[in-house]
Amino acid sequence: PPYLNSLAQGAGKLWFGTAADIPGTAEQTDPDYLRILENPGNFGEITPANIMKFMYTEPEQNVFNFTGGDYLLDLAERYGMRVRCHNLVWVSQLSPWVTDVNWTAEALTAVMKNHIQTLITHWGDRCYSWDVVNEALASDGNFSSSIWYDTIGPEYFFLAYQFAQEAVEQTGKDIKLYYNDYGLENPGVKTTAAYNLVKELQSRRIKIDGVGLESHFEVGATPSLAQQVAAKQGFLDLGIDVAITELDVRFTSAPYYTASGEATQAQNYYDSVASCIEVGRGCIGITVWDFDDAYSWVPSAFAGQGGADIYNDTLQRKPAFYAIGEAITGV
Ligand code: G3I
Repeated sequence: PPYLNSLAQGAGKLWFGTAADIPGTAEQTDPDYLRILENPGNFGEITPANIMKFMYTEPEQNVFNFTGGDYLLDLAERYGMRVRCHNLVWVSQLSPWVTDVNWTAEALTAVMKNHIQTLITHWGDRCYSWDVVNEALASDGNFSSSIWYDTIGPEYFFLAYQFAQEAVEQTGKDIKLYYNDYGLENPGVKTTAAYNLVKELQSRRIKIDGVGLESHFEVGATPSLAQQVAAKQGFLDLGIDVAITELDVRFTSAPYYTASGEATQAQNYYDSVASCIEVGRGCIGITVWDFDDAYSWVPSAFAGQGGADIYNDTLQRKPAFYAIGEAITGV
């Protein structure tokens, strides 16, 4: 199949999207990369891999930089693609002015509120959705340590959504608010903890529209199709949407391009995408965490690992690409 987003659109109101680390990296000026990216048949959604994060958008306290985010939004809008804006409150990629100070809970809460509300207000519904809090949970289901949790306590999580909701209501626009994390792709302690966070937001009448299941996997070690269906169904049963937000399937060691390895990887991609199709309406999109191995985040994060994406490092489609097409069309 030639175009994965065309297929996804044909299968319903599903999108097929990608992360892009634009602007500020070699992707921005790579004509071969851009030829694939800038095609709504290929992608109906873009997630900025970095440029909307805290350290880039508020480099000094209350001094905001929207230039990079604007560039990415302009690019997406030129091709009719939606943007999942990413992210507002996370442990990583904070500015030194945030991490290098001993804040009181009150002062840091004010910092968080200002950051959340300024970004939501500025970009309005050019953002289809915001990942309000990113990766709050540890694998045991407790909140992870972060400057937000350690300073404010568990209430930081609920306050973040309350502040986001206030800003969305001020805009009068339809902007979805998401929780985004990894390790929610199969049933388990962490996934149950995420269900409980959603339920707690709902019981407090705080806006939560969906949960992003990152889906960063290792070849040959992904949850089964049935497990991925069950985990998604648990979120849908709460009356919210789910999306696959950061899908990739990495090899934990070379070689990355053997026929048998690529066949296993293709099956792993198939199962993840098929689980989204199988739960039906409510799983509203699939985003890969960039589409070619040359620009994957994996090798710089995990020495010796790679080959995670659906195009290889010379932008040739891998079996995983075709497997996604088959999962979408039900072939
Ligand atoms: O901008 C600097 C550049 O000036 C410098 O020369 C270069 C040298 O290391 O680093 C550049 O910054 C890098 C940044 O990406 C921008 O490309 C950082 O080192 C690098 O650590 C950072 O990695 C990002 C990572 O988040 C940070 O945790 C990845 O690109 C990004 O793909 C990744 O994305 C996360 C999601 O936000 C949340 N879920 C997991 C996912 C993968 O880790």
